[in-house]
Amino acid sequence: MDPVLEVVGLVKQYGPMRALDGVSLRIEAGEIFALLGPNGAGKTTLIGAACGTVRKTSGKISLFGIDLDHDSITPRYRVGLVPQEVNFDPFFTVRESLLIQQGYFGQKPDAARIDELLAALSLTAKADAQTRALSGGMKRRLLIAKALVHRPKLVFLDEPTAGVDVELRRDLWNYVRKLKAEGTTVVLTTHYLEEAQELADRVGVIDRGRLLLLEEKHALMQRLGHKQLVVRFASKVSALPPGVVGTLSEDQQQLEFTERAGTQSSAQVLTALFAAGLPVADVAMQPAKLEDIMLRVLKGEVGP
Ligand SMILES: Nc1ncnc2c1ncn2[C@@H]1O[C@H](COP(=O)(O)OP(=O)(O)O)[C@@H](O)[C@H]1O
Ligand SMILES: [Mg+2]
Repeated sequence: MDPVLEVVGLVKQYGPMRALDGVSLRIEAGEIFALLGPNGAGKTTLIGAACGTVRKTSGKISLFGIDLDHDSITPRYRVGLVPQEVNFDPFFTVRESLLIQQGYFGQKPDAARIDELLAALSLTAKADAQTRALSGGMKRRLLIAKALVHRPKLVFLDEPTAGVDVELRRDLWNYVRKLKAEGTTVVLTTHYLEEAQELADRVGVIDRGRLLLLEEKHALMQRLGHKQLVVRFASKVSALPPGVVGTLSEDQQQLEFTERAGTQSSAQVLTALFAAGLPVADVAMQPAKLEDIMLRVLKGEVGP
């Protein structure tokens, strides 16, 4: 099957500045792909080049196997974009905005689809409100509804949860999972690494227009993730059992151990502590964090 999106050697030049410096990637049907990177890395530019809001300098972009240099219109009917910036006409109502959007994508008015999205995004009560009267969070919900109204097979979400409240973030995460379950491919950019960790099947890290890493999330977490084990003892422990690597605190009542690829496992450490009869009182485990991995990738400490 053709990849949903294929980008080869993509370059975008703004005057002397290269916003994209030879990016290549493939997005497969049905996956959730998180594109991560600091501000100014080139995420929005990459999405814009795929969606037609940014004109590429060179390189190749295909959507659903169709090269955009040959046909830039047809494949884009199957794409939805939730832009980073709010961009709708303030004088239409919520429902009108969605109807206009359906027409824009060459579809017949489909009130049932609009009602379904209004309900899914908790906008039903605001259907007849003018969009300028909406709160920031409601505007963001409408942006998402607009991007989905024509049932796209590929959806780009560009920082969809920037500045939104926890409740909307949760709703949105659930909605993204639902889209995936329906077979929609989702490309997400986000500042919240927790969000990518929660949702993504694969992650890409981009910095200064270059893709530094692209990997399946679980494999990445396995390969580069650091888990932290902290064991509290009921009384002082004079020495660790042989073979246990970890740091004993100054008060000799706490062990800290960092589990990473190639080290012994936390389970092995705990087993050894119990086998030695040490007075284990409390155990805490911190899972690996995508955020730590990304910071190390950006610093150049780890790579593909
Ligand atoms: N229209 C533009 N004109 C000039 N420079 C731009 C324009 N849009 C983006 N840039 C620059 O391109 C780089 C990448 O921007 P962007 O893709 O928005 O990054 P991100 O979305 O990762 O924060 C930044 O340095 C930004 O300042
Ligand atoms: Mg951006």
